Amino acid sequence: MIKVHLVAADGAETTLDVKPTGSLMEAAVAKNVEGIAADCGGLLTCATCHVYVREPFAGRLPPPSGDELGMLEFTAAPQRPNSRLSCQIALAADLDGLTVDLPATQY
Ligand code: FES
Repeated sequence: MIKVHLVAADGAETTLDVKPTGSLMEAAVAKNVEGIAADCGGLLTCATCHVYVREPFAGRLPPPSGDELGMLEFTAAPQRPNSRLSCQIALAADLDGLTVDLPATQY
């Protein structure tokens, strides 16, 4: 199991103990974390699973695919250099402690 931390826009933090498989979006939705809408279920067509990944993890993730970069243009909240779509973040053992900030809105 690894721990991942999701910090809401108001500062409230949710910590999940999850298996290092699947995506961050799937883990968050399974635990009913508010702030990850994921309307498309991970098909990379909605941009409502937007997160801001904190260092050092942002630099450890594989770079976004062209499709992810394209969908990041459609996030409701402003895009930042560390913006990612959580359905594209594959959980792995080396992401233990992964911390992401949630945007104020996904719509
Ligand atoms: S869940 Fe729709 S783009 Fe990530």
